[in-house]
Amino acid sequence: MKAIAITPRQEHTAFMVDLPKPTLDEIPNGRGVLVKVLMVGQDGTDKELYGGEYGAPPPGYDFLVTGHESFGQVVDVGANVTQVAAGDFVVPTVRRPGNSIYDVIGTNDMTTDSTYYERGINLRHGFLTEYYVEDVEFLVKIPNGLKHIGVLLEPMSIIEKGIVQAYEIQRRLKVWQPHKAAVVGAGTIGLLAALGMRLRGVDVTAFARSQKPTFNSDLLEDIGVRYVSTREMSMADAAAQFGPFDLIFEASGSSPQVFEAANVLAKNGVLVLSSITGGSKTIEVQSDKLNLDFVLGNKVMFGTVNAHRGYFETGVADFAQAEAAWPGWLSRLLTHPIQGLDNYAEMFRTLLETKEAIKVHVIVSEENAI
Ligand code: BGC
Ligand code: ZN
Repeated sequence: MKAIAITPRQEHTAFMVDLPKPTLDEIPNGRGVLVKVLMVGQDGTDKELYGGEYGAPPPGYDFLVTGHESFGQVVDVGANVTQVAAGDFVVPTVRRPGNSIYDVIGTNDMTTDSTYYERGINLRHGFLTEYYVEDVEFLVKIPNGLKHIGVLLEPMSIIEKGIVQAYEIQRRLKVWQPHKAAVVGAGTIGLLAALGMRLRGVDVTAFARSQKPTFNSDLLEDIGVRYVSTREMSMADAAAQFGPFDLIFEASGSSPQVFEAANVLAKNGVLVLSSITGGSKTIEVQSDKLNLDFVLGNKVMFGTVNAHRGYFETGVADFAQAEAAWPGWLSRLLTHPIQGLDNYAEMFRTLLETKEAIKVHVIVSEENAI
């Protein structure tokens, strides 16, 4: 069976490996599901993996099969699987349980273990391959009506976690409602975060560097989001005009933006940090002012990573709502299809070189007729 692998921590290695086709008996207690991979998305984490900046191979291997945004079809199930059947469409979660108390209750995304296991990223092979087996616990069923956008569910789960956690944190305020939100960054996560907030009826301003019109600014305006280029207007000026921002979702991939965002957060507001910044950038900040504003304004800033299956399920519901409200909008994010695993070199090239790509995704196989 073909799979696409890299050598973690080495720059720009990518090769095809031959792995045995997995079997149901690899998963104990009859809970295994054999899945045929149909589509795999690529994101900034894959860029970092390919760049040699991140990730680790599973024990006993010197390579890592990548790909964590995956959509597939069930081929066969173990004796004790009732949740899905052959022919169903599924998306797997990414992180697998460790040992902390958070893992024990099924919230692996909140693990406090120093070692974490993520398929296609850290210590576990991913999904850029033909088939995988998984415990049914880690598979989320996709309704047939949403199969065309199933590959976007993993990134959506990340923003669902951020939004749900923000609302949970804000229950401290008893009567809080976000009226105005801001999203920093207009890449896949920024776009999906803007969508998530629009679906919750919030007025959204998106900040990105590029001047409009761009494909991304059009997408945002099509769902009623105000687009501001930070080349034309500072975040502070925009906040004076379009804020105050009760909720800010930071997804720019650039850590200095965090402090810009913190500066324009409303009183009692919440700032969600979701950018993974593996570099070593250092900047000076006005610490007294920032601290004073947060103290006097009862503000919160928190980080969020990964997602457990509950957030994938919220994502499915939001996808259904989005398709009803703005039909076809999510499909427009699938900008750069790559045909087949054999074209992995083109996949990495597109990921690295095509700045305007929203979602590079590999079409691994066609679905089976059921
Ligand atoms: C993945 C998450 C993961 C994170 C850190 C992201 O790209 O979508 O599932 O937790 O990278 O490894
Ligand atoms: Zn990801």
